[in-house]
Amino acid sequence: MLIPDDFHALVVGSSGALGGAFVKHLRMDRRCQSVSELSRTTNPGFDLSRPEDFSDLLKGLEMPAALSLIVDATGALSLLGLGPEKSLRTLKAAQLRLAMDVNAIGPMLLLSALMPCIKRSGRVLYIKLSARVGSISDNHKGGWYSYRSSKAALNMMLQSAALEWQRTNPAAQVIALQPGTVYSRLSKDFLHASTTYVTADESVQSALLALDKLQVKTGAQFVDYRGKSIPW
Ligand SMILES: NC(=O)c1ccc[n+]([C@@H]2O[C@H](COP(=O)([O-])OP(=O)(O)OC[C@H]3O[C@@H](n4cnc5c(N)ncnc54)[C@H](OP(=O)(O)O)[C@@H]3O)[C@@H](O)[C@H]2O)c1
Repeated sequence: MLIPDDFHALVVGSSGALGGAFVKHLRMDRRCQSVSELSRTTNPGFDLSRPEDFSDLLKGLEMPAALSLIVDATGALSLLGLGPEKSLRTLKAAQLRLAMDVNAIGPMLLLSALMPCIKRSGRVLYIKLSARVGSISDNHKGGWYSYRSSKAALNMMLQSAALEWQRTNPAAQVIALQPGTVYSRLSKDFLHASTTYVTADESVQSALLALDKLQVKTGAQFVDYRGKSIPW
């Protein structure tokens, strides 16, 4: 049972397909007390490509109570008008750097900025949308340098954050979530007629049920939307 009772939740990236579906399904959960939203277009908002700007974010954030469930559903695959790299020859420093900011550095600094709003004891669940392609041991195809490496870096930082957090709150749980292949702005240009995908609603509904069945563990857990563990 990872989902806390009587939770106050925050969904970061609520403007996205998966973020919006998390807002909807969390609000339908009988344990839900409130769901706040934060995205590039809310006020206050934030831009992950400028992670040094988050220190003032808390001043404008209004939440009814301390958070016990946080979902960060932000992320980007295509950046600077460039899709995922197929070859070493096409690597661009700016694309690699920006992917790190948006997919790894930004979300971790955002979590750091949000810590004062999070419950200090008892069950707390932080879910960060990661991606299976961030698994080094599962990389059998290569390519996608910036997206893969930024998600792998994210995963490493999630593990460190979980271990640090659990020293002061052993009930805090950190999930690196692979949502499945989901039709969204991020993915639509890379889905082929033969690709099997799920809707954001199906992914989130399944993920919330599966996460609730997971056991509390030391460190972060890298799982898919059906609750199946993914090797780092
Ligand atoms: N869709 C899939 O098949 C799939 C598969 C594996 C993993 N994932 C992961 O799932 C997460 C959500 O993806 P999605 O499919 O729901 O994509 P999406 O619909 O494109 O949503 C992406 C979200 O990230 C936000 N975002 C992007 N760049 C940002 C920036 N610089 N600053 C602030 N916010 C930014 C977007 O905000 P705006 O609305 O302002 O652009 C939006 O809220 C991502 O982490 C992705 O890597 C998705």
